[in-house]
Amino acid sequence: MMLFLIVMLLVAVFILFIITSSFLGFIITRVPFVSTYKGDIEFIVKKLGINSADVFYDLGSGDGKVVFLVEKLSGAKVKGFELTWWTHLLAQLKKLIRRSRAQLVNRNFFKQNWSDANYIYGYLYPPLMGRVEEKFLADCKPGSIAIIRDFPFPKLKPVEVYNLPKKHEIYIYQAPFPKSDGRIKVS
Ligand SMILES: C[S@@+](CC[C@H](N)C(=O)[O-])C[C@H]1O[C@@H](n2cnc3c(N)ncnc32)[C@H](O)[C@@H]1O
Repeated sequence: MMLFLIVMLLVAVFILFIITSSFLGFIITRVPFVSTYKGDIEFIVKKLGINSADVFYDLGSGDGKVVFLVEKLSGAKVKGFELTWWTHLLAQLKKLIRRSRAQLVNRNFFKQNWSDANYIYGYLYPPLMGRVEEKFLADCKPGSIAIIRDFPFPKLKPVEVYNLPKKHEIYIYQAPFPKSDGRIKVS
């Protein structure tokens, strides 16, 4: 009986932790945790040819599904930023189980430097996309790619848009090269 009560108490504390951290996470970020489909991630990796020489950041990495799959499929160096505690802890647990080398950072991605990444991925919400766009242009090196699911940047024109099954879109943006960088175009 005592053991049963202790187990029930632990379950209740666990559920309370998930509810509280989801609520606080939403208050802070204004973005709920919703996962990208596995098939969408597979499509992105294949279509863009992401490989082991690449550095891939997931802005708001949730339970780590995207970073772990990108790492597995491509061998890229992956990093995820996530503010909500329970999804971040779940991602840490998955990292241990999978023996992944992903870097998982429990920080606000707006306060981090993105210049290492040549791919950034964002499945976020419309009110944030203007700030994400500005930071992508400010931080990322020319030629870097932003992969944005469903909610496009307000100003930049995508270089490609993919319509995926189940009515989802992937917008691809490239950080522009300076106009006078002396490059010779090879056709
Ligand atoms: C829609 S979910 C996407 C999760 C994952 N990227 C995927 O596609 O499966 C967005 C996540 O971004 C996180 N998030 C939103 N704003 C953030 C910020 N400024 N810093 C860190 N994480 C943030 C939220 O907590 C949420 O878990």
